[in-house]
Amino acid sequence: MGVGGRPLVFFLTLLFCITANASHCSTNGLPLVRNISELPQDNYGRPGLSHITVTGSILHGMKEVEVWLQTFAPGSHTPIHRHSCEEVFVVLKGSGTLYLASSSHSKYPGQPLELPIFSNSTFHIPVNDAHQVWNTNKHEDLQVLVIISRPPVKVFVYEDWFMPHTAAKLKFPFYWDEQCYQTPATKDEL
Ligand SMILES: *[C@@H]1O[C@H](CO)[C@@H](O)[C@H](O)[C@H]1NC(C)=O
Ligand SMILES: *[C@@H]1O[C@H](CO)[C@@H](O)[C@H](O)[C@H]1NC(C)=O
Repeated sequence: MGVGGRPLVFFLTLLFCITANASHCSTNGLPLVRNISELPQDNYGRPGLSHITVTGSILHGMKEVEVWLQTFAPGSHTPIHRHSCEEVFVVLKGSGTLYLASSSHSKYPGQPLELPIFSNSTFHIPVNDAHQVWNTNKHEDLQVLVIISRPPVKVFVYEDWFMPHTAAKLKFPFYWDEQCYQTPATKDEL
């Protein structure tokens, strides 16, 4: 290959990557009725997780609600976290434990309640309550349908239940929103 060849190959590869990413992030041409089995599914760097954004803010332009389908392998779990949106869970398969600290008035979450969750159960997380969902069943995947309000989700992550609320770290955009999130235009588009 000549001296001039490499930059061209590099450029074309780059162009291809940009185009491929853009099409994955674009709502153009998305059918109204979608086969969930064919939606992007990934662990987004979190071992044991399988996440599908069924319908969302960044991918589908939803403004009020967003829906996820998530599967947690045995032993896997969410971080301890809070968010200022409503969140509803429907457990489709498996079982596990919901840890919920509702003392959001004090300086840190504190010792959480431990509530068993099970197939065909439902629960909601009060706005800003620190919580964690854990597949504590050693033998079965835990599958949940999750509905949140006010997407895209802005998550504050705690290292433990006694970390001050003020020290919880904002993770935004969240794992599955990272690839397609674009900083909102500040001037033109408002
Ligand atoms: C949905 O997608 C799955 C996986 O590609 C496929 O097996 C199934 O037939 C599809 N369902 C319909 C109704 O097209
Ligand atoms: C969940 O509960 C509803 C209401 O009793 C019932 O109709 C449905 O079959 C249940 N689903 C499963 C998967 O058990």
